[in-house]
Amino acid sequence: MSGGSGSGGPAAPMVLPVPDLAGPTTRLRPWRVTDAPALVAAWRDPVIGDRLIVPEPADEASAASWISQRERAWADGRSVDLAVTDPPSGTVIGEVGLSALDPVRRAALVGWWIAEDWRGQGRAGEAVRLVVDWALSEGPLEAVMAEIAADNPASVAVARRAGLRRVQAPRKPSREPDGPRPLVFARTRTEGC
Ligand SMILES: CC(C)(COP(=O)(O)OP(=O)(O)OC[C@H]1O[C@@H](n2cnc3c(N)ncnc32)[C@H](O)[C@@H]1OP(=O)(O)O)[C@@H](O)C(=O)NCCC(=O)NCCS
Repeated sequence: MSGGSGSGGPAAPMVLPVPDLAGPTTRLRPWRVTDAPALVAAWRDPVIGDRLIVPEPADEASAASWISQRERAWADGRSVDLAVTDPPSGTVIGEVGLSALDPVRRAALVGWWIAEDWRGQGRAGEAVRLVVDWALSEGPLEAVMAEIAADNPASVAVARRAGLRRVQAPRKPSREPDGPRPLVFARTRTEGC
């Protein structure tokens, strides 16, 4: 899969610390099992369903199961998933996650969604920026990337708000080789923001 560390053995997984991230309009925290209804509502939103892979069935049992697996995935260095909340009310309004954590390249993919009622207020841009700034300053990551469909201009704007820039990336093997190619955005640790 991702090769060796250069010293003979496989690279150790990257286990990031649990952050305390907050900006003027968002606060981020690990998912809690009590967030399952908010997650189900998001999974059932057709805009999110069109853009992201959601479990089938998208019900509370699936949501509780997904949330309960997050802590283990984080501890194993497989992913980092943070609920985006509205600071005054504590309501869950979205998610920002790091996936495909690659300890050899010290890279990860960042993804996000914001619940319908909370869109268009700059919260996605703020939350993604908080996570990317943190991952590249406090964590062991050297690069954060995002893959965004060309017909998703709001997400392109969110990526740019988080300091990611469009890069050319080699085409990956795909189950749909003739399907539309995502735009790839990236920010590295040494790049300014
Ligand atoms: C993408 C998504 C997170 C944006 O949420 P949001 O709360 O509206 O985001 P923000 O308010 O922080 O910012 C939206 C930005 O997109 C811009 N925008 C919105 N619609 C746009 C459009 N049709 N064309 C161009 N720009 C657009 C806004 O002007 C804003 O830009 P700015 O930060 O430079 O002012 C939300 O639509 C969503 O959850 N979509 C479904 C899931 C998804 O697509 N996830 C990403 C997969 S890569």
